[in-house]
Amino acid sequence: MCGIVGYIGTQQAAPLLLEGLSRLEHRGYDSAGVAVVGPTGVRVAKRAGRVRDLQEELPKRFAGKAGIGHTRWATHGPATDANAHPHTDGKGDVAVVHNGIIDNANALRADLADAGVDLVSDTDTEVLAHLIALSDADTLEGKVSETLQRIDGTYGLAVLHADFPDRIVVARNGSPLIIGVGEKEMHVASDLAALVRYTTTVAHLEDGEIATITATGFTTYRADLTHAPRTATEVDVDPASYDVHGSDFMLREMLDQPAAAERVLRGRLDERFGTAHLGGLNMDARETRAIRRVKILGCGSAYYVGQMGASLIEELARIPADAEAASEFRYRDPVIEPDTLYVAVSQSGETIDTLLAVQEVRRKGGRVVGLVNVVGSAIAREVDGGIYLHAGPEVAVASTKALTTMFLGFALLALQLGRVRDLSIADGKRMVAGLQALPGQVADVLALSEELVEVAEQLAAAESLFFVGRVRGFPVAREGAQKFKEITYRHAEAYQTSELKHGPLALISPKVPTVAVVPHDELTDRNVAALHEISARGGPLVVVTHPDVDLGGITCRRVDVPRSERELDPILLTLPLQLLAFHAATHLGLDVDKPRNLAKSVTVE
Ligand code: AGP
Repeated sequence: MCGIVGYIGTQQAAPLLLEGLSRLEHRGYDSAGVAVVGPTGVRVAKRAGRVRDLQEELPKRFAGKAGIGHTRWATHGPATDANAHPHTDGKGDVAVVHNGIIDNANALRADLADAGVDLVSDTDTEVLAHLIALSDADTLEGKVSETLQRIDGTYGLAVLHADFPDRIVVARNGSPLIIGVGEKEMHVASDLAALVRYTTTVAHLEDGEIATITATGFTTYRADLTHAPRTATEVDVDPASYDVHGSDFMLREMLDQPAAAERVLRGRLDERFGTAHLGGLNMDARETRAIRRVKILGCGSAYYVGQMGASLIEELARIPADAEAASEFRYRDPVIEPDTLYVAVSQSGETIDTLLAVQEVRRKGGRVVGLVNVVGSAIAREVDGGIYLHAGPEVAVASTKALTTMFLGFALLALQLGRVRDLSIADGKRMVAGLQALPGQVADVLALSEELVEVAEQLAAAESLFFVGRVRGFPVAREGAQKFKEITYRHAEAYQTSELKHGPLALISPKVPTVAVVPHDELTDRNVAALHEISARGGPLVVVTHPDVDLGGITCRRVDVPRSERELDPILLTLPLQLLAFHAATHLGLDVDKPRNLAKSVTVE
């Protein structure tokens, strides 16, 4: 989604801004723009389309040693040149880039129109530029602060002003803003990916803060401009891991899953005591034993893997656990219980719905831990403790390796919780062995890839599909349907196999295939009975199952995955569904890495 960059120092800003924007491209965007401030005032270049288009069309003389840039993902108004950021006051005095949503933009637009201001875009952001320009305050910080007092909503923003060419003023409320400290130069970005190439010494602005950035340093303030001192610290990241240029990301990320699985498990398994060690949780044994319930919060695929995680926790730790869509959580005014452990799960660590759910829990005094991939991200910093997933950068919109590491993160959490409570050492050792074997088994399932091409192509021909499973298999089916719909644009609906007879069976026909998840477990026979019902109605079947499952001679395309410990089976059953979605989308000639309408990080509500 939208991305912000900024630079002030001794070099020309524009090339650095464009380079920074190109490093945010994987987040998804539809237009891009930059502004610089120099001796002749503020200059802006922006357009709908890619960063390289902007680069090609940049005016020759676009000089200035301070500047801001933006990649936009349309929310207010379509992707047009006029709606692209930076937005200005129309006089060349002010330029603003903004992530987030101004909730009272319509009222402010009406006020500005009444005052004779000519608004040239459909965006909420444009009002910021005008309000800053109209402010009577003497300083740029004062103008920004005064403007923000009139704003309801979320923002990460950066402002240039022709009268204050020695600074960029930035502010944050609900949308990340990071300041990077260099040698006689400073950087700004909404995502570490845009600045780690230049510096790993960073300061994260907190909600409600404003900062002045000059070539030699930065000063942070609260909204009322009283000082809120903040120091920059070194982030422990490998800049090379942010070099995410290229293509075929989903394929590469799927194939990285055995290695990612090893990374998330590394150093965290204890064979001797049959347990896991997750120091980052910041919970001692007494606190762990006091947990009466676990509530997992995430969005999209992170929510579905959260459902898999809830099963793991119930099975291994015998603590009641469930997962809920973080996007709905805070709107039902949830009761926050002191003996509930809340777990936020997110690849990006930036998903606004998950972040706001975390804040809701904390505001009400609850304890939240995180399963997060991106180090130092907003959710990682907001939680009371957590587990980093070590999946490495994930660029494709369709999450694959991060999901696998989330599942394993939950397995580690469940094992640690279980061993502090009632899980026997024998069962603990069984789980440790199962987890140790998993990276190799993940590789074995991925090796099925070529065998799945033909069946994926058959599925791609259908306009509508079902994905079904029961109990442990149901979140697998949900995740399978999610992957399929997001990259093939086919209607893929997940259902509990047990619910088919209560409605959806009416839709089964030779034109509507079903992908069924049928593990070897206590429900195998019932699952097979449901497959017969689908088959009897002419529904084509793809069955993801275990080698020792007897499907009773049913006509289907069978995909066998190796068995793990039964609690860990869901992740191995999920992998063929990733491959089916990938091959189907590739066959349809679609942009697998960047599906339409979707962004990698969903940073607005
Ligand atoms: C996954 O394939 C999706 N693109 C999406 O559902 C994603 O999982 C969701 O938006 C949550 O993202 P997060 O893990 O970064 O919080």
